[in-house]
Amino acid sequence: MSGAFITFEGGDGSGKTTQVAALVEHLNGVGLQAVASREPGGTELGRAIRELLLHGGEVSPKAEALLYAADRAHHIATVVRPALEDGIIVVADRYLDSSVAYQGVARQLGTEEVRDLSLWATDGLMPDATVLLDVSVSEGAARVGGTQDRIESEGRDFHEAVRQEYLAMAQAEPNRWIVVPAEGSIDAVAARVRDAVMPRIRELLIGEPESVQSASSGKDSQ
Ligand code: TYD
Repeated sequence: MSGAFITFEGGDGSGKTTQVAALVEHLNGVGLQAVASREPGGTELGRAIRELLLHGGEVSPKAEALLYAADRAHHIATVVRPALEDGIIVVADRYLDSSVAYQGVARQLGTEEVRDLSLWATDGLMPDATVLLDVSVSEGAARVGGTQDRIESEGRDFHEAVRQEYLAMAQAEPNRWIVVPAEGSIDAVAARVRDAVMPRIRELLIGEPESVQSASSGKDSQ
């Protein structure tokens, strides 16, 4: 049986980390096995890469894209794929759409190139569903506050480009994306996320076992 791969996307200050944790807690509460993970930094190697990316010195745009892709390659190979193969739901705080929005558009490296780089890095793993926590750039900046990392301290145009690319991706691929307005209290947003995502997760889990069961019935007893 394979799990489900749910990713959360959004600009800085959209509240992804809090909402990923809330969704995982809810999933566990209803008896589903789910884990949270994050990019960059979901592995030991990734935490070192995260430090270089966010708190080191200058990083040129292509080096930046390659470092995010390196973190992702290792995270998917060593954490996400093994969990999915064990039937676990993985809820990831950012995935390849972050690279498309931040490096592809805001850094102007090209959406196709950056997406292809990530697909090569992950052997083509795509999320089953992606939640976009959409918040205005000014509200996001207010939530981030005064202590900003290298990416957060980019200007307003950079962050506006990220937001617009997310909205465009969601519009272009409505079957995968779920757009959730991220204004309001943590609990209000968590309820919106649950209402939007739980039907999709049930569909994914119920849709799959039957077709997979018969194909893998000999494999389960290994
Ligand atoms: P994140 O962990 O979401 O930030 P926070 O410090 O708020 O928890 O992400 C760190 C930064 O990395 C964020 O500004 C977005 C950026 N990023 C990219 O530019 N490209 C990527 O592929 C990813 C995964 C993140």
